[in-house]
Amino acid sequence: MKIKNICCIGAGYVGGPTMAVIALKCPDIKVTVVDLNKERIAAWNGPLDTLPVYEPGLTEVVAEARGRNLFFSTEVDKAIEEAEMIFIAVNTPTKTKGEGAGMAADLRYVEACAKNIAQVAKTDKVVIEKSTLPVRTAEKIKEILDREGKGVHFEILSNPEFLAEGTAIQDLFKSDRVLIGGYETESGQKAVQTLVDIYANWIPKVKIFTTNVWSSELAKLASNAMLAQRISSINSLSALCEKTGANINELSEAIGMDHRIGQKFLKASVGFGGSCFQKDILNLVYLCRHYGLDEVAEYWHQVIKINNYQKDRFAQKIIDYFGGDLTGKRIAILGWAFKANTNDSRESPAIYFAEKLFKTGAILEIYDPMVSKESIFSDIDFYWEASKPKDITTGISVLNSLNKLDLSIDAVTILTEWEAFKRHDFSKTIVFDGRGILSSSNYSIGKG
Ligand code: NAD
Ligand code: UGA
Repeated sequence: MKIKNICCIGAGYVGGPTMAVIALKCPDIKVTVVDLNKERIAAWNGPLDTLPVYEPGLTEVVAEARGRNLFFSTEVDKAIEEAEMIFIAVNTPTKTKGEGAGMAADLRYVEACAKNIAQVAKTDKVVIEKSTLPVRTAEKIKEILDREGKGVHFEILSNPEFLAEGTAIQDLFKSDRVLIGGYETESGQKAVQTLVDIYANWIPKVKIFTTNVWSSELAKLASNAMLAQRISSINSLSALCEKTGANINELSEAIGMDHRIGQKFLKASVGFGGSCFQKDILNLVYLCRHYGLDEVAEYWHQVIKINNYQKDRFAQKIIDYFGGDLTGKRIAILGWAFKANTNDSRESPAIYFAEKLFKTGAILEIYDPMVSKESIFSDIDFYWEASKPKDITTGISVLNSLNKLDLSIDAVTILTEWEAFKRHDFSKTIVFDGRGILSSSNYSIGKG
């Protein structure tokens, strides 16, 4: 089957960039990205410097494809009806209520998409899981589609996304691999081939790996768990470095020089953040428990426990430095995004770190080059415990420029590895460097 129309449900950090790249590389295919969030769609259709996702290289891609064969719309039903191939790229957060709360993935948005597709589709569709999902979700989607559909044929594929924020466009242009899982039936394999043909427009065939559906679904969770596990491993060793005088940067370099281990993902930090590592590992832990694999579940749970330990440990260092009480101390928090080169702050370590300092009496001055004041206050409102005081603005301010930072402040803390922080002169200030990016800091992760 030759694909002429693609629909992607979900115009977020994955749906937006991935579809922009497909549209760029496949000018003959009309790609429509739909979302229920009107503001988000308006921003995708708005000026290039205020797209809802900040990613180096994204504006250029959108500038070329938007209006040609890339469209953003709130007309979900129309786009579903038109398309032969539908990607589901909606959010799959950790469940907050019901069975599995705090661990399992909340599939309500994915299920809503399946229902929507079933109700609207009048022709056969290939439905693709782009969201990260628990293994065997394809079964649930198929059940909904077949039960609620109008007699048309649905083929489900798993095509998880491996892009990392901040490097999304490069990751999509030159993916390490594109993974496509399909049912081992004739129609399943045909559907796999139609998706292979799309990626083959720019990804070398040797990098397109086809598997069965369950391997593909599970490989995504496992990949994130393995990456996060390396960070927790190095972070756990940073604590031992601080006790023994070993240097964590030297340690990670020494370990990574073994080509069997490699250098990547061995950078000690204030802990990993982002919308996915924690939720995907919790999901994996939940799945293992569900299948009665308690030892396996506990192994992966440790990755999260060490991450929480690391986030807490860094904040505690500062509290200890000031004798256990931060009352009236002015502390700058530089970096709110969960990593550099993104405006995304979901699950950012800075949020938890700030809360702990604030609760111990600190007056906070926060700055991030890409995260807006509104987003910072909305994160505080969303993530901090209910015990937060009504008016936090008296104890928290957000700077709009690094130059506004008053260096007579009691301490500066670095939470995100933005380039601008590496170049700034902090020599007159006490600096706590949670990313190990400054050689001049008084306290750096892993330094005793
Ligand atoms: P996101 O929250 O940025 O975007 C999801 C979008 O889906 C939202 O705009 C929301 O309004 C929309 N949506 C939800 N339900 C809808 C519905 N029924 N109809 C239409 N629109 C709907 O999420 P994201 O970061 O893009 O992540 C999406 C999925 O991709 C998740 O499963 C995530 O784990 C996975 N993933 C994310 C990344 C990443 O870097 N963020 C990387 C790889 C995989
Ligand atoms: C991660 C994976 O890298 C992607 O492959 C995956 O597609 C994505 O999750 C997802 O499923 O959402 P992302 O979270 O965007 O991507 O960014 P990473 O570069 O993996 O960084 C995650 C966190 O780990 C950040 O807080 C980062 O600062 C931290 N980190 C990373 C370290 O502390 N040390 C390192 O050595 C590397």
